[in-house]
Amino acid sequence: MKRTKIVDIFNPAIVGTEVDVKGWVRTRRGNKYVQFVALNDGSTVKNLQIVFDMSRFSDDDLRAVTTGASIHVEGRLVESQGKGQTVEVQADTLEVYGTADPESYPLQKKGHTLEFLREKAHLRPRTNTFGAILRIRSTLAYAIHRFFQERGFFYLNTPLITASDCEGAGAMFQVTTLPLDKLPKTEDGRVDYSKDFFGKSTALTVSGQLEGELGATALGAIYTFGPTFRAENSNTPRHLSEFWMIEPEMAFYEIEDNMDLAEEFVKYCISYALDNCRDDIDFLAEHFDPELVSRLKFVVDNEFVRLTYTEGVKILEESGRKFEFPVHWGTDLQSEHERYLVEEHFRKPVILTDYPKEIKAFYMKQNEDGRTVRAMDVLFPKIGEIIGGSEREADYDKLMTRITELDIPMKDMWWYLDTRRFGTVPHSGFGLGFERLVLFVTGMTNIRDVIPFPRTPNNAEF
Ligand code: 4AD
Ligand code: MG
Repeated sequence: MKRTKIVDIFNPAIVGTEVDVKGWVRTRRGNKYVQFVALNDGSTVKNLQIVFDMSRFSDDDLRAVTTGASIHVEGRLVESQGKGQTVEVQADTLEVYGTADPESYPLQKKGHTLEFLREKAHLRPRTNTFGAILRIRSTLAYAIHRFFQERGFFYLNTPLITASDCEGAGAMFQVTTLPLDKLPKTEDGRVDYSKDFFGKSTALTVSGQLEGELGATALGAIYTFGPTFRAENSNTPRHLSEFWMIEPEMAFYEIEDNMDLAEEFVKYCISYALDNCRDDIDFLAEHFDPELVSRLKFVVDNEFVRLTYTEGVKILEESGRKFEFPVHWGTDLQSEHERYLVEEHFRKPVILTDYPKEIKAFYMKQNEDGRTVRAMDVLFPKIGEIIGGSEREADYDKLMTRITELDIPMKDMWWYLDTRRFGTVPHSGFGLGFERLVLFVTGMTNIRDVIPFPRTPNNAEF
């Protein structure tokens, strides 16, 4: 018989037929006449109830059917008499694939803390919570590709190993095959990277944007969707050392077009999850965050507030609030400032624009005032910054001046500057932190719980 996934079992048309199901045992309970097994195969948050009539099975047959064991059952799908489920399977046959010793299987019953489960990241996908999160994550990834493909954007794969620091923050993981205990040295005593694998110093990328701009100024509109690495020592609930970023880049887009696209994009993703992951979202709402669904709908249904950094700082200064990090014009905004604007002042997502050039990257378009750049950050409730982007400086001379001011090594940048030398155009783009979107949609509060195997300072287990 062909296996039926549990997600497809709850279909009224197949009630009364013989089914073949496989999965992992969540619980077993019952008495000497009848035993009930809750079976889950990962295809849905719902468990399937399997009923063993103990006049047809022996205690021995069921001994190995404990929490975590994998089994294969054939039987008849019938409407359920009991509470809590619509259908159940009356077992005819039972095959145990693999046992899970109750003494050592860590996921006994329910009620483990998220912290405990982080230590068991190899098994936590088997819990309802992580099953729900990982299914939502997968659906969101699909929604992202759909959104861009439907609008004629091309998916561009940018390199993970690079010699340039896009964000200029110096937070890169070095990539080298040089022997660390016996480094080759140049005459003046520096490390001789000409002997390294690529003949120069390389690192893991912090962003695909620079290559994305090459794509956009050729194909018109592109997006990247890939892993990104940052060696910043920030142990917060919103930072990972390895995260996934989506970076669209569009020729002929100015900052307003960029903001419109960003707003439409995140709304599309959230709607898509509401329409396609409702069981999982409802499960997470019930167990972690009763306001989750209303918060998601609120973001989809309301226009984001748009204002400048200067206006935002004024609101913060006049708020009378004592922030941990004092705020004045010129300071980089901290999560507490972003969340004040979003959660307390406007009570809506906010797009903040025109930041001081000193706190933003070299590639952003310079405003007439000489002090600010055409940056845009999208700020979300509970998250803070979910998107960072800008219109790009398209003028060769202005860009060169900024590169010189910031002392960015030119030898690694010539190819980027060629976009401004040959057929330069106004263009814009942004980066969405995928895990921050998944955080928002799942209502989780720690970014370590929305990626299967988190990488953070001092943690590369699994
Ligand atoms: O604001 P960021 O640093 O912008 C860039 O990298 C640009 N090159 C994007 C572009 O214009 N194409 O990062 C973009 C987003 C942030 O808004 C945040 O959501 C996420 O990436 N992000 C992180 N997510 C998890 N862990 C980290 N350490 C992150 N750093 C940034
Ligand atoms: Mg940013």
